[in-house]
Amino acid sequence: MRIIKSVSVMQKYILGLKSKNKRIGFVPTMGYLHKGHGALLRRCRKENNISVLSIFVNPKQFGPNEDFHRYPRDLKKDELFAQREKVDIIFYPSADDMYPKDYLTYVEVGKIAQGLCGKFRPGHFRGVATVVGKLINVIQPDILYLGQKDAQQAAILKRMIVDLNFPVRVKIVPTVREQDGLAMSSRNSYLNDKQRQQAPILYRTLRHAEGLIQQGQRNPRKIIGQMRAMILKAAPFKIDYIECVDAASLDPLKVLRGDILIALAAWLGKTRLIDNIVLTVK
Ligand code: PAJ
Repeated sequence: MRIIKSVSVMQKYILGLKSKNKRIGFVPTMGYLHKGHGALLRRCRKENNISVLSIFVNPKQFGPNEDFHRYPRDLKKDELFAQREKVDIIFYPSADDMYPKDYLTYVEVGKIAQGLCGKFRPGHFRGVATVVGKLINVIQPDILYLGQKDAQQAAILKRMIVDLNFPVRVKIVPTVREQDGLAMSSRNSYLNDKQRQQAPILYRTLRHAEGLIQQGQRNPRKIIGQMRAMILKAAPFKIDYIECVDAASLDPLKVLRGDILIALAAWLGKTRLIDNIVLTVK
């Protein structure tokens, strides 16, 4: 496994691999790796000749009052994790190399980035699209692997890749969960013991919503109302949103039909948790 810390070295190394017709798979992350990242890396390893993992806590996707400085970091542990997943290259650039002093260019994806988390984290998806656009240009992967856990991020990046003609395919990997249903996330490390016990209610309400739909409920307001009540009864959450949207366009739905995404974001103390499920409704 090779660790490359410079953009220009990475570019040169990739050119060499490309000239040998290697198929390159790419998993972008912010590190503090867990089994969710592991699932992406395993798919990537299986489907490509070379698997590239990037670890970069991207300052441009954090708001001024968000958790950039306390975001968990542990490169040594991540290296061991990556080695076990047989990653070929870790790309670990510095912020100065990614964004030199005179940096001015951003990628902004329209409407699809404005609802759901976009409403509560202004500038977040602009930062995500910009960094992933840059990483794709540096690494030139054949396939990009993203997690369903961050459903809006995946939808936005798919849109960007189509709109800007990036020559890369996207594969979305299902959400990996703890045994009690909590979606794995680097941010779960912020939770104290009590909060950790309370957090799985989010997934339980998503499954409850699925049950209501199976019983014939098609009115999102009714479903969201029940979910909200369940969550607030279980623990002192502050809910940012619970929404039922079209799974591709992320447009809000008045009646549930087709491929739908039920997505939510809620704070437990100082930890913001997100989760979602995708369903096909007849
Ligand atoms: P990060 O939160 O580290 O996640 C990296 C990738 O792992 C994302 O595609 C995310 O959706 C996926 N992932 C995280 N938890 C998962 C889980 N429990 N199951 C399946 N996949 C999971 O998302 C980011 O970093 C950043 O925004 C990034 C795309 C790297 C841009 O900076």
